Amino acid sequence: MKFFLDTANVDEIKRIAALGLVDGVTTNPSIIAREGRPFEEVIKEICSVVDGPVSAEVVSLDTEGMVKEARELAKWADNVVVKIPMTEAGLAAVHQLAGEGIKTNVTLVFTLSQAVMAAKAGASYVSPFVGRLEDIGTDAYALISDIRDMLDFYGYDTEIIAASIRTLPHFEEVVRRGAHIATIPGKLFPKLWKHPLTDSGIEGFLKDWENFSNK
Ligand code: G3P
Repeated sequence: MKFFLDTANVDEIKRIAALGLVDGVTTNPSIIAREGRPFEEVIKEICSVVDGPVSAEVVSLDTEGMVKEARELAKWADNVVVKIPMTEAGLAAVHQLAGEGIKTNVTLVFTLSQAVMAAKAGASYVSPFVGRLEDIGTDAYALISDIRDMLDFYGYDTEIIAASIRTLPHFEEVVRRGAHIATIPGKLFPKLWKHPLTDSGIEGFLKDWENFSNK
């Protein structure tokens, strides 16, 4: 399984990449805006510190505008993946870009139907939003399983990026359901490797060792 960081914060990326846990990065306009720095500067810097795919999102809503932005983004670095919203115009852009060898990540996916449309149009990645599905009381995990089964059954190369992961249970369930990739906010990442019993266990072992060595 691959892990992406859902952030545009370069320090956060460097810190977690040092643990060997970062296969790629996803951003969106909200995430970029949080950094308060120019889009191009941030994406280029992220692409230089991460070897894997880095998703950068277009803001145009029409196909022509999306394709134009995508071509520009693709020039910034070899590992840029263009994030395209799941709309009719988006599907047309994905289809065109796939023909040009530009990788795309179709975002804001909430149904199996949307996922199969994106795969068929030529998306490299589809991003179902787990937390936002949960917000509206929909079973996001059944969706992840269904998308995975569909991709495998029909032999699409498209990979699932489970997005909008906000909690440890979100993460663990998408691991169980066969998402190829989970994209994780920087703040959540440490919670994935920490457990209070690990910490108290270390403390107990060290206390026992100290008592033993002082005898
Ligand atoms: O990866 C998508 C993510 O950035 C959106 O997360 O928590 O705003 O639904 P959230």
